[in-house]
Amino acid sequence: MTWQVWITRTIPEEGIELLRQHCTVHLRASRTIPSREELIAGIRDHDAVLCLLTERIDREVIDAAGPRLKVISNMAVGFDNIDVAYATQQGIVVTNTPGVLTETTADLAWALLMAAARRIVEADRFTRAGKFDGWDPMLLLGWDVHGKTLGIVGFGRIGRAVARRARGFHMRVLYYDVQRADPEVEHELQATYVDLDTLLRESDFISLHTPLTPQTRHLIDADALARMKPTAILVNTSRGPVVDEQALVDALRNRRIAYAALDVFEHEPQLTPGLAELDNVVLAPHIGSGSLETRSRMARIAAENILAVMRGERPPFMVNPDVWSHRRGK
Ligand code: DGY
Repeated sequence: MTWQVWITRTIPEEGIELLRQHCTVHLRASRTIPSREELIAGIRDHDAVLCLLTERIDREVIDAAGPRLKVISNMAVGFDNIDVAYATQQGIVVTNTPGVLTETTADLAWALLMAAARRIVEADRFTRAGKFDGWDPMLLLGWDVHGKTLGIVGFGRIGRAVARRARGFHMRVLYYDVQRADPEVEHELQATYVDLDTLLRESDFISLHTPLTPQTRHLIDADALARMKPTAILVNTSRGPVVDEQALVDALRNRRIAYAALDVFEHEPQLTPGLAELDNVVLAPHIGSGSLETRSRMARIAAENILAVMRGERPPFMVNPDVWSHRRGK
């Protein structure tokens, strides 16, 4: 029987078209995030759902889908929006889209780092407001990037891609991760493994690239912020809750640290009160992987993951490989 696939929101056409060639596709043709009620009603009686990180696919939603659901395909590398343990228990394959967005996300982390260091957003606002009345040696002074120390928290694919960019700026690179990288990787990227405390104390720039887990939630709290240099610049393109956003607002307001650049937020899409009023923060609406090319590839991979399971093949990117032997409908 033809597979019924529900796509929770409008995604690049490449992914939709590929699925349409092989399945019956029900597209919720909207750019808005589905409400809880829409999610519960929409997922019912489908073989697969292609969802985004904004959809919380928890036990209630999985149960609402009914026994037909076989694949949850997340169009994202992160999958903290899905109750993977419950899906696995229910024999449902969970997939994601890693790799393809590594360089694009690292580009954005670098853009944010540069924007904060050289106060680009402040400069843009200043110039547009007609305040530029001649060169001023004291105007909008920022911080050098070249030759400084970059601390990378989470040394997976994206963290390493950021380290590679830092080499072009002749930076000293420190990294912290639960797992130390191979000596060849450290050598290639000229990166030094340190404990978190050393990284926080010695880095001029700190860039976060860790997944959101119970261990990383609020990894950057008031205590961590207090250990950073007063000139430190914090960049977050990972997940909002890795940072205690209220503590960050306080640290930025009191100039406990110099600047932050955030692509993700603790209570996304809401911002912690006070954040948007600060001058020393650059804000972006979770666009780390947001290039035309990469989002199209992500949509395609999310579709390919579904089609592979439909054909009885292991999907290219499975989050819960343990499910394979007892997956539904095999
Ligand atoms: C992801 O893939 O997890 C990003 O946050 C969005 O591309």
